[in-house]
Amino acid sequence: MKHLIDILDLSIEEIDELIRVADDILANPVKYREACKYKTLATLFFEPSTRTRLSFESAMLGLGGNVLGFSDSNSSSAKKGESVADTVAVVSGYADIIAMRHPKEGAPMVASMHSLIPIINAGDGGHFHPTQTLTDLLTIHHEKGRFEGLTVGLCGDLKFGRTVHSLIEAMSRYQGVKFVLISPEELKLPGFVKQTYIKEKGIEYVQSTSLEDVMPELDILYMTRVQRERFFNEEDYLRLKDSYILTPEKLKNAKDDMIVMHPLPRVNEIDTRVDGDPRACYFRQAYYGKFIRMALILKLLEVQV
Ligand code: NCD
Repeated sequence: MKHLIDILDLSIEEIDELIRVADDILANPVKYREACKYKTLATLFFEPSTRTRLSFESAMLGLGGNVLGFSDSNSSSAKKGESVADTVAVVSGYADIIAMRHPKEGAPMVASMHSLIPIINAGDGGHFHPTQTLTDLLTIHHEKGRFEGLTVGLCGDLKFGRTVHSLIEAMSRYQGVKFVLISPEELKLPGFVKQTYIKEKGIEYVQSTSLEDVMPELDILYMTRVQRERFFNEEDYLRLKDSYILTPEKLKNAKDDMIVMHPLPRVNEIDTRVDGDPRACYFRQAYYGKFIRMALILKLLEVQV
């Protein structure tokens, strides 16, 4: 049985296949309308979410399946002290596949060891978020037509931003990719990502505290929110939260075909005046999330259409 805990659980070929299926679903949604009839997805969300949970649910409903779950750990038995292992052992009997988000790094991995059905990591603490990366890859495929040779700027909270960690893991497998890491000193990319996926692989990278300085080089600008919920004190958050705010003025120095991505939710880091720029693709990115999750559910449930 297969789980998706880390984006590297999927080979490049498997990702290509998921993108191919997602594109087919986008083109022929009716063909997939009953693909998961009588199958059930459980969404176990121990942390807040809008897009990830709803896109998973919308994906399963679009495949003719059912959904159940909770969106707040306070309404689950976690509140009574139940372990993730026990919750999952029980839910394994009620559903065919589980998407789990948890504030503790590694919780979905532990869950996978106690589950009789596939587990999808829908975000674990400040660690990883592989299905956001699948969404990001489908977006890059649509907007840029390739993964190789791209200069990818990642801006904001690179320390706690799990979407950044998974995206770096994934993009580090493509030839000629270069990373530009833009963050305040305190929110730099953690060693476990930088060492393993950039330095040891000999990938070219630049670190900068200034977005303006590096803007002209970028093919992709991936903006992120400062992850308030992972800070130990509010003062640090308040001091760092507005470190980067993308405005139409700053975009004047960007390439004409650069794309601006953001996993959302946005707080202040992208001025709403940027939304009308054709290079802003974060709402399209959110839209693609449903289709790549449909493809992933089909794959993990081994459903052939
Ligand atoms: C991200 C997350 O949960 O890590 N959101 C999402 O899934 N689209 C990004 C964030 O919360 O900042």
